Amino acid sequence: MPVITNIDDLKKLHKKRTPKMFYDYCESGSWTEQTFRENTTDFDKIRLRQRVAVDMEGRSTATKMIGQDVAMPVALAPVGLTGMQRADGEIKAAKAAEKFGVPFTLSTMSICSIEDVAENTSKPFWFQLYVMRDQEFLKNVIQRAKDAGCSALVLTLDLQILGQRHKDLKNGLSAPPKLTPAVIADLATKWTWGLEMLQTKRRGFGNIIGHAKGVDDPSSLFTWTAQQFDPRLDWAKIEAIKEMWGGPLILKGVMEPEDAIMAAKVGCDAIVVSNHGGRQLDGALSSIKMLPKIVDAVGDQVEIHLDSGIRSGQDVLKAKALGATGTFIGRAFVHGLGAMGEAGVTKALEVIHKELDVSMALCGRKNIEDVDRDIVLVPEDFEGRWV
Ligand code: GLV
Repeated sequence: MPVITNIDDLKKLHKKRTPKMFYDYCESGSWTEQTFRENTTDFDKIRLRQRVAVDMEGRSTATKMIGQDVAMPVALAPVGLTGMQRADGEIKAAKAAEKFGVPFTLSTMSICSIEDVAENTSKPFWFQLYVMRDQEFLKNVIQRAKDAGCSALVLTLDLQILGQRHKDLKNGLSAPPKLTPAVIADLATKWTWGLEMLQTKRRGFGNIIGHAKGVDDPSSLFTWTAQQFDPRLDWAKIEAIKEMWGGPLILKGVMEPEDAIMAAKVGCDAIVVSNHGGRQLDGALSSIKMLPKIVDAVGDQVEIHLDSGIRSGQDVLKAKALGATGTFIGRAFVHGLGAMGEAGVTKALEVIHKELDVSMALCGRKNIEDVDRDIVLVPEDFEGRWV
């Protein structure tokens, strides 16, 4: 068994143990993948200031996201098809998050349903909503999230239509996978994955099969999004969903100050600066580059979170220093899940926590809530001059 010391170790195991179609789904961005790449490389441009002779005893990374206690400012992001990375993947990830003390967000496009996750966990989780054309489905799914005791609704704003990821088309991505000769040859080398999958009944889109009507191919993410997702989502609809839900609301996918101002007006509890992990609009700037502008625009009105590009505790620290109250990890925990199931998600959280804790201390801070702009060095031209 290899010694796991960082997220990249988990990523290598994830690749080895998971069918190519699902590993590729996780590890890709849209079109040229420029935004996907820059989401991570831009974090590297920000440097940390080493401080010395500061008492480091009694440190704490505990804080709050939307007023809820978190062991560190990291939530598990909603990731579609998580239950295809490993059998019952959403349940496993939710259990790991619950034990660690961070929020788990269930995607609308999950394999395990809202009810599956609620039955197998004891603390409330967050539910991510994609808005479907079908009003009855929309009302029902919001009610189901309420009935399950979900403690926040994370409304995704940047995926009314799906950005093209070449590998998914070439691989014929579907849940469950269609057994073509290429898929059978691949599965023959991933037999643990297959054996676990044979033991679960959860192999399709659990939140929608049996709840949504009129989809030609229920196993295809492309068909679902094209036929069901509501391309007319606008601010009036967002307000209507806020009313329907009536609880804590997080608006995800805000990249521009104008949109952040609109989001703040709607009266949400937080916005997530996110380009969907570089999976939607290729060519957009990285989330970390846009963060300071969004903080300047609305940081005094609404809590700001960030996702896209976080692969280490140092990235969390940098986002925090630039004004994010919390962050979300997607690929980082999915690598853990694909590598080692629930234990792998726990490992991913432990890795990130340790990196965060030690780096914070070496920057001379004992408490995550005292981390501010002062601990980082940002190149003068980091945000760039764009006209
Ligand atoms: C969302 O479901 C995605 O594939 O990014």
